[in-house]
Amino acid sequence: MLALLLLLLPLPLTLALVSPPNFAPDIKSFYKLEAEAKNSAGTVGKRDSVPAEYVAAPYYPTPPGGWITSWADSFAKAQVVVANMTLAEKVNLTSGSGELMGPCVGNTGSALRFGIPNLCLQDGALGLAATDNITAFPAGVTTGATWNKDLFYQRGYALGQEARGKGVNILLGPMVGPLGRKPRGGRGWEGFGTDPVLQAVAGSETIKGIQANGVIATIKHLVGNEQEKYRMDIIPHGLMKAISSNIDDRTLHELYLWPFAEGIKTGVGAVMTSYNDVNGSAASQNSMLINGILKDELGFQGITMTDWLAQISGVGSALAGLDMAMPGDGDIPFLGLSYWASDLSTAVLNGTVPVSRLNDMVTRIVATWYQLGQDQDYPLPNFSANTAAATGPCYPAALISPTCVTNQYVNVQGDHAVVARNVSREAITMLKNENSTLPLSTAATVFVFGTDAENNPSGPNSCSQRDCDTGVLGMGWGSGTANYPYLDAPIDAINRKLVTNATYYNSDTFPSITTVGADDIAIVFINSDSGENQHTVEGNNGDRDASGLYAWHNGDALVEAAAAVFSNVVVVVHTVGPILVENWIDLPSVQAVVFAYLPGQEAGDSLTDILFGDYSPSGHLPWSIPVAESDYPASVSLQGFALGQVQDTFSEGLYIDYRYLNKNNISPRYPFGHGLSYTTFTRSATISSVGTLTSTPPARAAKGSTPVYSNAIPPASEVDWPTGFSAVSRYLYPYLNDPEAISATGTFAYPTGYSNTSHADPVAGGDLGGNPALWDTMFSISVTVTNTGLVAGKSVAMVFVQYPSDSAYDVPIIQLRAFDKTSTLAPGGKETLTLTITRKDLSVWDVVTQNWVVPVSGSKPFLFWVGDSSGGLTLACESLSLACSGGRTAPVV
Ligand SMILES: *[C@@H]1O[C@H](CO)[C@@H](O)[C@H](O)[C@H]1NC(C)=O
Ligand SMILES: *[C@@H]1O[C@H](CO)[C@@H](O)[C@H](O)[C@H]1NC(C)=O
Ligand SMILES: *[C@@H]1O[C@H](CO)[C@@H](O)[C@H](O)[C@H]1NC(C)=O
Ligand SMILES: *[C@@H]1O[C@H](CO)[C@@H](O)[C@H](O)[C@H]1NC(C)=O
Ligand SMILES: *[C@@H]1O[C@H](CO)[C@@H](O)[C@H](O)[C@H]1NC(C)=O
Ligand SMILES: *[C@@H]1O[C@H](CO)[C@@H](O)[C@H](O)[C@H]1NC(C)=O
Ligand SMILES: *[C@@H]1O[C@H](CO)[C@@H](O)[C@H](O)[C@H]1NC(C)=O
Ligand SMILES: *[C@@H]1O[C@H](CO)[C@@H](O)[C@H](O)[C@H]1NC(C)=O
Ligand SMILES: *[C@@H]1O[C@H](CO)[C@@H](O)[C@H](O)[C@H]1NC(C)=O
Repeated sequence: MLALLLLLLPLPLTLALVSPPNFAPDIKSFYKLEAEAKNSAGTVGKRDSVPAEYVAAPYYPTPPGGWITSWADSFAKAQVVVANMTLAEKVNLTSGSGELMGPCVGNTGSALRFGIPNLCLQDGALGLAATDNITAFPAGVTTGATWNKDLFYQRGYALGQEARGKGVNILLGPMVGPLGRKPRGGRGWEGFGTDPVLQAVAGSETIKGIQANGVIATIKHLVGNEQEKYRMDIIPHGLMKAISSNIDDRTLHELYLWPFAEGIKTGVGAVMTSYNDVNGSAASQNSMLINGILKDELGFQGITMTDWLAQISGVGSALAGLDMAMPGDGDIPFLGLSYWASDLSTAVLNGTVPVSRLNDMVTRIVATWYQLGQDQDYPLPNFSANTAAATGPCYPAALISPTCVTNQYVNVQGDHAVVARNVSREAITMLKNENSTLPLSTAATVFVFGTDAENNPSGPNSCSQRDCDTGVLGMGWGSGTANYPYLDAPIDAINRKLVTNATYYNSDTFPSITTVGADDIAIVFINSDSGENQHTVEGNNGDRDASGLYAWHNGDALVEAAAAVFSNVVVVVHTVGPILVENWIDLPSVQAVVFAYLPGQEAGDSLTDILFGDYSPSGHLPWSIPVAESDYPASVSLQGFALGQVQDTFSEGLYIDYRYLNKNNISPRYPFGHGLSYTTFTRSATISSVGTLTSTPPARAAKGSTPVYSNAIPPASEVDWPTGFSAVSRYLYPYLNDPEAISATGTFAYPTGYSNTSHADPVAGGDLGGNPALWDTMFSISVTVTNTGLVAGKSVAMVFVQYPSDSAYDVPIIQLRAFDKTSTLAPGGKETLTLTITRKDLSVWDVVTQNWVVPVSGSKPFLFWVGDSSGGLTLACESLSLACSGGRTAPVV
């Protein structure tokens, strides 16, 4: 999301708007003209040509929410409320009040007659953004690298508890898109790793944790925001269009949509659309994406909101299925203009937006509020994302604002530092460890190199949204960050462990040391950063466009120099994504390498827990590390400038990360899932068949009923300014100066394909996430893991599915479908993990029948490869013989 940058925009036009409701009519009509131009171009907001096969088809009307059993009670309660609401109250809940128009990064209007306050929306993918006395948790990528479902949940629960404690209704996380298709993409680190199943499981456990506190979680960004540069329209819209992610239907279903489907099945309350276009139509108003896929096929019942300032039309986005505009402003914030708010009142009164669509938007919002229990004793916000001061303007974007108590500094940390440290520790992935160099002895003589071992001398929060790479890298930059309450620097933690302090060189240039002891240890800290596009850091525009996949600050040279002097070099890497290690990985002195990703506030102790052997490492890579960047498909490179609209066509289809390397017989440096331990494990497996595998799932049930309302256009007086109302300047209200005068001015040019006739129920739908039979268990694989080494440790078991060799579909050789992690196993200890394979896990998306199809031939088996990475697989179970055996030849290099 955009943030303070917007504050810096010159505001020359605002003076005319000092005292609404008397808007300057000329400015308003200029913006309306621009908005309507976008509505009349066929497909809503259809822009430049995309490759012919990627044109977004229209899908209208929006399927109303309320037909799913698990949400029925909440819709019944919402119906009673919405049936009694005025037009002003309805519009209030759908529309943000404007950037900096309330305590949170997003604030809706209220409907206090029904006890519904201004809903508070706040960033928080790794901690509550822009406030104090919270926990700065490890980032998503770090969390994914633990492969630990309990930790996914615990971190989510703690995040939710902190959000509730500050009075946040809707937390803007977790993030499962970008999926990490582009290794250089800026925001991959906010998600959990480059695999749909890893993202799906980590995302939905996070959602469960957040929502167990009554906080509405937001799964984001739907979909295809795989690069930062050109992600959004340049404001004002029309100067340059957002990038178009052109994604074919099968790839969308099998990769990018998969974690969203899982989150919806879990019951997530909100979905945020992405900035980019999908197939040439903005994600915030792509009717196929929202009406068709999200709401009809996946059965989503909650709230669909825009990313910040991503709305580009009013009527168009309403018809395409959007329910909430965030933060509410139109093209340019701070002008008091909106595509919705009073303009939505107009569009309903003049008959252009059907009343039924408005009723559905509001019903979804109110039902979600009930579904999460927010009608019962839910706290109001007690912090301000706009200021750290105790008192200040309630509405900083207003020219004249009343004064509020802005911050009560409520400490919501609880014991969450333990959760944060546990996640950071379990993520640490040991890639290499020759001659048992790790763990280190506390009596060792240690030299530490690199600025990444110590805090930023100006303080860990000195850069806005962490938009600098100074000192230890605990998170990337952008809206997915939080303020550190403290940042436990690795050098301090190392010194707490050692008998004699390390000799530390706080520099990224190697000092002139020439003689060292044969047993002396050098620990070299290097990092690689990225973030969101509103900040450019060391030439990187969000994405790693300047740095490439190399360590920043000449990190490679630092490692090489240390390796030339010391015989025992340990490299610690803090990184947002894969980096290339070829310059030094095979140097004989580089004995050990650990990836600590983005550890958040607990960067120190979590690392020394591993380096000094208090815990055995158990993290595993959430992506592959290739030998060269050219090992990836060319189509996942960053797209550069183009006249018109930048086109990003996902022509590699299903073949990203290990799926691509495997198909092309390219050996990675370290395979997806790689991670070593201080102990050793053996695995054995048994398999049982649980369900009956048919080529398509049993037919779905018909939809249940949805709330019925009068669809008569309400009296215009419902949006008259209330008598004596004291309006805040530039705040976005539902009210109009002379609503009685509104009438349809000619006919509205509805988008191509617009219709009021409902589609037949999609065959792949039926419940939250799709046809519920997709989640029927087909096979159960029991993996017994035995610790055969000398120290305690945890082990991860992963199951990769290989489709029958006579499958008619082109499928990646192997795909992760299930995983789990043992508890701590003492030497000799064992544990049996049960991994289930669902019908969906064995299906491909058939674009012709629009259904999930299992390519069963009956003569060739599915193979289930069991291991702890995508490399070195030798143990497999078969679907037909139901036999498991070891010693087999790995299916991939
Ligand atoms: C994108 O284009 C593909 C190929 O034409 C189509 O199947 C798919 O439905 C489109 N997706 C969206 C969201 O428009
Ligand atoms: C309006 O609210 C009242 C309770 O306040 C309820 O009895 C009634 O059913 C509601 N009206 C409608 C049309 O649902
Ligand atoms: C709409 O929301 C605004 C801002 O919260 C509030 O002042 C106004 O009273 C609300 N209108 C209605 C009809 O509830
Ligand atoms: C109705 O109002 C909306 C919002 O201002 C506008 O976009 C639309 O063109 C209007 N429709 C007609 C038929 O005047
Ligand atoms: C602030 O936090 C406290 C403690 O969590 C809570 O009781 C209160 O309702 C919150 N909101 C306000 C406005 O005080
Ligand atoms: C945390 O809250 C306390 C009051 O409880 C306050 O003194 C302190 O300044 C807050 N911390 C920060 C970083 O604002
Ligand atoms: C954190 O990890 C330690 C060590 O495994 C464990 O004893 C403790 O229960 C964990 N705490 C939480 C809150 O997860
Ligand atoms: C490991 O230690 C042995 C014995 O000290 C030595 O010969 C060998 O070179 C070492 N290996 C590496 C990779 O340093
Ligand atoms: C060891 O290093 C820590 C900081 O990392 C410092 O606080 C402490 O004073 C040092 N101890 C000695 C004996 O130098």
